Amino acid sequence: MDDLRLKYIKAISDARDENALEDVRLAALGKKGEVSLQMRELGKMTPEERKVAGPTLNALKDELNSALNAKKTALADAVLNARLETEWLDVTLPSRATNIGSVHPISQVTEEVISIFADMGFSVAEGPRIETDWYNFDALNIPGHHPARAEMDTFYMKRSSDDERPPHVLRTHTSPVQVRTMEKSGAPIRVICPGGVYRADYDQTHTPMFHQVEGLAIDKDLSMANLKWVLEQFVKIFFSVDDVELRFRASHFPFTEPSAEVDIRCSWDDGQLKIGEGNDWLEILGSGMVHPKVLSAGGIDPNIWQGFAFGMGIDRIAMLKYGIPDLRSFFDSDLRWLRHYGFASLDQPNLHAGLSR
Ligand code: PHE
Repeated sequence: MDDLRLKYIKAISDARDENALEDVRLAALGKKGEVSLQMRELGKMTPEERKVAGPTLNALKDELNSALNAKKTALADAVLNARLETEWLDVTLPSRATNIGSVHPISQVTEEVISIFADMGFSVAEGPRIETDWYNFDALNIPGHHPARAEMDTFYMKRSSDDERPPHVLRTHTSPVQVRTMEKSGAPIRVICPGGVYRADYDQTHTPMFHQVEGLAIDKDLSMANLKWVLEQFVKIFFSVDDVELRFRASHFPFTEPSAEVDIRCSWDDGQLKIGEGNDWLEILGSGMVHPKVLSAGGIDPNIWQGFAFGMGIDRIAMLKYGIPDLRSFFDSDLRWLRHYGFASLDQPNLHAGLSR
């Protein structure tokens, strides 16, 4: 019995893997295993002999079983440890740099403008970039012979040669969205309309596609004073300056009466632009009281309602705020430029957290 015990305890401890261990188990405790055969011998013994041999055999069987189990666990642990060793991972290493895109300054500034005007009760309206000549011109009191049509350097869409209708245009300003909004929602109105516009022009301060934001407020008791306050409010928040001086210069637009172009006081020292001080003026927008004919074109009674409108260059105020010298660079898609002037995707403009500076 002792020999049997020593033999199998050693075999168990020598087993290299689970298969070898299973062979040992069968050899000892399987149906034809040595220990099992000894158990079977018990039946042929006298009661006295059995009394001695029975408990000893049972104890041996128990001992081998627990040795087998312990070894099985140890082998499984070893396998797991070996695997963990090869799959080892240092979670404290710095992560790999990922190149994420950036938000274009025009998108950023558009969001800034929206959040500032939203705080003053303006919502956002949009219109198509391919516009009928009615919305882009006629409804805005610019009839066919009007010089403003020629001045706009308009891109015309093509019509087939036998089609007599006036061609569609790439909208030359966001003002057509005024009329579309009037038709859609009626008075009163408080909207801003940001978006791309097109004119055939190209130099350091002009690109054939650029961006404007239109503002339109229609109510029963609005005046130029309201326009002035709204614009001053906007400029202060947008440029983060407490004192701004705006200059309203009498001007002419067919769709506003009276009309004013608005300049902002600034200085250019060493090529550095400062808003709110200095002896220079920078034009940032056109504006005025909405012409009665435009209200009528939009289905609004000019005897009851009046309002103001303005159109501001988004690219232009982006250049001013972020010191970007050349308008054309906005549309070059130069990655170095985008990385330099772009914004982080989570840097979302919001009045309360503060706009980006
Ligand atoms: N649409 C004009 C432009 O593009 C700007 C403007 C808008 C002027 C609204 C007055 C009122 O120059």
